Amino acid sequence: MLPSVILSTFLIAIIFIFITPTTNASAAVLRFREAPKFYNSESCPTLSPAPAASTCYDDANAINVAMTLDAAYLRGSIAAILSVLQHSSCPENIAFHFVAASSAASHHLRATISASFPYLQFQIYPFDDSAAAGLISTSIRAALDCPLNYARNYLADLLPSCITKIVYLDSDLVLVDDIAKLAATPLLNGAVLAAPEYCNANFTSYFTPTFWSNPSLSLTFANRRPCYFNTGVMVIDLRRWRDGGYTTQIVEWMELQKRMRIYELGSLPPFLLVFAGNIAPVDHRWNQHGLGGDNFRGLCRDLHPGPVSLLHWSGKGKPWVRLDANRPCPLDALWAPYDLLRTPYILES
Ligand SMILES: *[C@@H]1O[C@H](CO)[C@@H](O)[C@H](O)[C@H]1NC(C)=O
Repeated sequence: MLPSVILSTFLIAIIFIFITPTTNASAAVLRFREAPKFYNSESCPTLSPAPAASTCYDDANAINVAMTLDAAYLRGSIAAILSVLQHSSCPENIAFHFVAASSAASHHLRATISASFPYLQFQIYPFDDSAAAGLISTSIRAALDCPLNYARNYLADLLPSCITKIVYLDSDLVLVDDIAKLAATPLLNGAVLAAPEYCNANFTSYFTPTFWSNPSLSLTFANRRPCYFNTGVMVIDLRRWRDGGYTTQIVEWMELQKRMRIYELGSLPPFLLVFAGNIAPVDHRWNQHGLGGDNFRGLCRDLHPGPVSLLHWSGKGKPWVRLDANRPCPLDALWAPYDLLRTPYILES
C-alpha cells in the first residue's frame, strides 16, 4: 500500500514537471500597477444607457478605440491606454475594443487589463490568427509577420456591426492630446478611413519592380494621387468598410502577394493598394512616427517638425526595451511616464 502511494505521488510530481509551461514565463510574470480612475469633465455629453444584456451598443457620443493585445506588446498597450485616458476630457465615454490572438491566454490579458484599469469599458475579441497566417509572406522584419499585426484588416468583421466608427491605434504609441479631436476627423467625400498622409515619401519604393512593370497591376493607382500613410493610427468608418467589402479586397492583394512578390513590407501595402489617394487627411501631429529607429541599425530618431499630439515608436526599437537595457533614446523619456509596469523594487516595498 505505502509504496504505491509513494509511487503515485512520485508520478504526479513527474507529470507536473513535464506539463508546467516554461514558455511565455517572462510575459506571465509582468505585473502592472493600477491606474487612477479618470472622470468626465462637466461639459461631456452623457451617453444613453446601454441596453441590458447586450454587448452590441454604440452611441454617437462614445469614442470607440481598437487595439491589439498580446503578451509581447502588453506593456506598450497598457501605456497607450493610460495615455488615451489621461489626456481625454471625457474618458468615461471611451470604449476599448481589443483584438487578441485566440491561441494566446486571453483570460490572462483580460485579468491584467481589468487589474490596471478597473473602470475601463472594454471587450476582447478573439482573432483566429491562422486565417491571416496563411496569407502572410515573409518581410524584412519578423515582427511584421506576426499574424496579430494583420488584425487591423479584419476589424470590420471582428467588431459587432453596431460599432460604426473606430479609432485604431498601434501598441507602441502614446497620445499627449485628447483622442476626441482625432475621432472627430471628418471623413468627407465618402472616405472610408482617415490617417496622416506623407506625400513626400517615395511611393514607388513600397512596391516591387514586378508590380510596376505589370501593365494591369500598375494601373491600380490610375486616377488617384496616392501618398504613403502609416496604418498605426487610423480613423475608420466601419459601415462604409463593410458596405464596400474592403476586407475581401485586402485579402485578395495578400493572396496575390503570395503568388508574385509585389511589395516588401508586411501589413501596410495592401492598405496602400486599396486606399491610398482616397483617404481623408489627418494632421501630422497625430502620428509622429518612426521613433523606434530604422529597421537596420536601430538609430534614434528625432521628432518631425511641428506640433505633437501622438508619439509613435514605429520601427525596430521599442522604448520599454531600450529603457530596460539602459540604452534609451532621448525621446523614450516621453514614453516612460505612461509605463505602469511594476518594477521588482516596487514589488518588494
Ligand atoms: C523612388 O524609388 C524608386 C524605386 O525604389 C527609384 O527607382 C526612384 O529613383 C525613386 N525616386 C526618387 C525621386 O527618389
